[in-house]
Amino acid sequence: MPEQTTDESTFTAGRPRHAEYVDNPVNAAMARVLDDVRREDHPGAVADYIPELAKADPEQFGIASVSVTGRSYGAGDYRTPFSIQSMSKPFVYALALQHLGADAVGERIGVEPSGEAFNAISFDQSGRPENPLINAGAIVSTSLTPGDDGAERFAHIQAGLSAFAGRDLEVDDAVYRSESGTAFRNLALAALAKSTDALRVPIEDALDPYIRQCSLLVDAHDVAVMGATLAYGGLNPITGVRVVDAAVARHTLSVMTGCGMYDRSGAWMCSVGIPAKSGVGGGIVAAAPGEYGIGVFSPPLDEAGNSARGVAVLQRLSSEFGLHLLNRPMTPVSAVESVSADPASGRVTLRVRGELDFVAVEQVVHEALSAGQAQSCTTMVLDLTDATRVSTVSAYLINQLAADIGYGVRLSITDPSGLLADPVR
Ligand code: DON
Repeated sequence: MPEQTTDESTFTAGRPRHAEYVDNPVNAAMARVLDDVRREDHPGAVADYIPELAKADPEQFGIASVSVTGRSYGAGDYRTPFSIQSMSKPFVYALALQHLGADAVGERIGVEPSGEAFNAISFDQSGRPENPLINAGAIVSTSLTPGDDGAERFAHIQAGLSAFAGRDLEVDDAVYRSESGTAFRNLALAALAKSTDALRVPIEDALDPYIRQCSLLVDAHDVAVMGATLAYGGLNPITGVRVVDAAVARHTLSVMTGCGMYDRSGAWMCSVGIPAKSGVGGGIVAAAPGEYGIGVFSPPLDEAGNSARGVAVLQRLSSEFGLHLLNRPMTPVSAVESVSADPASGRVTLRVRGELDFVAVEQVVHEALSAGQAQSCTTMVLDLTDATRVSTVSAYLINQLAADIGYGVRLSITDPSGLLADPVR
């Protein structure tokens, strides 16, 4: 190992140093971000409206990330258990979407930002909760998961959230009892949803599994795996299990983008730009599509009910690591791996690589048309051996290329994996 020249106290900050800090540069970079935020002043207070949550240690602070390729990183208290609270909401919504489809779920829950607090009375004109990430919406999503009563619904939710996390999640009984005994506002929200007909099961059969799901214990690593599963189109990158369809994952991430941070969702998208959801236990789950799931844990909450240090660490991580959703590469890696010409036979071969979405194929088509204009070219070979995926529009454009490639030029396609015959949307 190279000699460490950095001041080690920056990484350890008075707590046991995790072995991964020193032997992995990504962990070290995350630990540094964590320690920078720890030194700053981010005022917040531990939630106390559920008595059990008031016992949380405000100093705990951890972060974990999991890539869609299944690599895990962590720093600080990322293995400390805490209750998932409202971070359950997007995952339960995804289970409802998977069960009933977006149209049926959309009849009962909206997808608009409420611009209000998590426990606000936010119903639209047709009586639907504004979105599934506020309490009223989450109680209705819970009612739309499979099951004939509250116990069956909770069993399905527990299994589903465990599949997102890749391990069996358990309820923290003390948190469950504490919230059950004080859930008067949620009872009122459920009653309002019942009065508008958004809730069509007995109140208790939605409220009890809602409270239980909030009490499931996770750590920041679990949260990162759950986020990574959404970021990977519903496929858990650690276990390889498909939890929900890609369309469900995308719909869920869309709602997280607009509504995940309550009345701070707009500011969040400007400063962090990663679909996310917070919980009053101090957790934040963030999911950067096609890249990472991130889990953060720090109990003190800001005025909007989001983890104060959690927001700060994700702001810093997003800007330093370049994770903003709208940070698209200005010069995308070319999908054309090589162009080779054989003047003797008149063959020009274009080898293309990677995921052939519209942006990639637009480049391929452009290069194929210019190469096809060479006087010696009689056959254009499009070699898809190194391509991994072809979208429907790309398949259309490649087929169209045969007609447009030029007079007297034949297009020949090498496609050993049959990608063109089975394009993805
Ligand atoms: O409904 C409640 O009060 C909690 N079980 C969950 C609320 C929550 O986490 C809101 N998030 N910031």
